[in-house]
Amino acid sequence: MSAAQLQHLKLWLAGKDKNWDLAAYELRQLTDSIAEAAVLYPGIPVDNVTTMMAPLLSVSDAIAAKDSRKFAGSMKGLTDGCNACHSSMERGFVVVRLPTDRFLPANQLFAPQGKADVRR
Ligand code: HEC
Repeated sequence: MSAAQLQHLKLWLAGKDKNWDLAAYELRQLTDSIAEAAVLYPGIPVDNVTTMMAPLLSVSDAIAAKDSRKFAGSMKGLTDGCNACHSSMERGFVVVRLPTDRFLPANQLFAPQGKADVRR
């Protein structure tokens, strides 16, 4: 799930910077990771994975529409889904949230290149 954690973070940062191509890419990676988790941890009820489909689709729609507000809202729903599964798997102590700062991952740029506000 560490991969999912990094993908969730990068997805958020890419969407915040309106780098929709990168966001779409990270969303595909994250969707694969969640599907893999279902295979990796046999105890995961199928319901917990299928419950993630609606929030994943909602994020996907927001990216396709390049809609920052919908993106933020659907990312919150997705994050709630992460935590709901953790709680149901006796991993309620693993609490995921949307990042509030920009420190990580500091070794990758998220803004589409060529924009004036790219941090160096
Ligand atoms: C279908 C169930 C399920 C979903 C959905 C899920 N997780 Fe997890 N997650 C788990 C389980 C089970 C573990 C504990 C794995 C273990 O103990 O080896 C875990 C553990 C983790 C950990 C701790 C890993 C570590 O080694 O420190 C993180 C971080 C994490 N998940 C992030 C996420 C994020 C982010 C999402 C949503 C994008 C998410 N998870 C969605 C089931 C899920």
